[in-house]
Amino acid sequence: MEMTPQRWNATNAYLAEVFGDDPQDRQLQTLMSRAVASGLPDIAVSPEAGRLLTLLARIATGEPRSTGRVLEVGTLAGYSGIHLARGLSAGGSLITIEFEGKHAAFAHAEFAAAGVTDRVEIVVEPALQALPRLARTLGPASLDLVFLDATKREYAAYFEFIAPMLRPGGLFTADNAIASRWWICDPPGDPDRDAMDRFNRNLANDNRFDAGCIPTRNGIVIGRKQ
Ligand SMILES: C[S@@+](CC[C@H](N)C(=O)[O-])C[C@H]1O[C@@H](n2cnc3c(N)ncnc32)[C@H](O)[C@@H]1O
Repeated sequence: MEMTPQRWNATNAYLAEVFGDDPQDRQLQTLMSRAVASGLPDIAVSPEAGRLLTLLARIATGEPRSTGRVLEVGTLAGYSGIHLARGLSAGGSLITIEFEGKHAAFAHAEFAAAGVTDRVEIVVEPALQALPRLARTLGPASLDLVFLDATKREYAAYFEFIAPMLRPGGLFTADNAIASRWWICDPPGDPDRDAMDRFNRNLANDNRFDAGCIPTRNGIVIGRKQ
């Protein structure tokens, strides 16, 4: 059966309704509208992608080889971070990197309101400055799950630091595998689209990882380290 624009919109509405945030969860329900009212951009993951992140964090940090540690690049207002933090196993922690002080401050307050501050460290620094230091201090095989959601053209550089930091069996994930303000099936020309296309193809052919893509609206690419 053909996918039409109407079916695509209706499918996304269905996913948000069925696999989105709990309607009783006032904080998550209002978080991004409050963030936008404070001047932050409206670029968080969708509710169904957020719930998927909780599931992935639970899978990745709940198994016997787990280090209990998750790394996010791109905090914004803390929406995806709260989802990740909620999936952590007991004693687990989330490190989330954000270079905009205003975004980090907003997220800090939201992590506190969500009751996860004890599990979350916000690193306020450009990712390519923070990652080499984290690679040195945390060491190899120190992460269970990584979620990239920052500058698309830097994903390949982030990955150089992150791949050795994932434990065997750990999960690498990145948002915007198939869409953002562009679609992956558009002709080449948009630098972010083209960077993401190269990144997807490299991960798919990286023999250290088993890779796939969950086609949420923006697409989450996943690689499991062998
Ligand atoms: C798409 S938003 C993140 C959304 C968030 N993950 C969510 O779903 O709730 C991207 C964030 O990454 C930050 N960012 C972009 N490039 C960065 C970099 N090189 N280093 C650190 N933060 C960066 C931006 O300031 C922005 O807040």
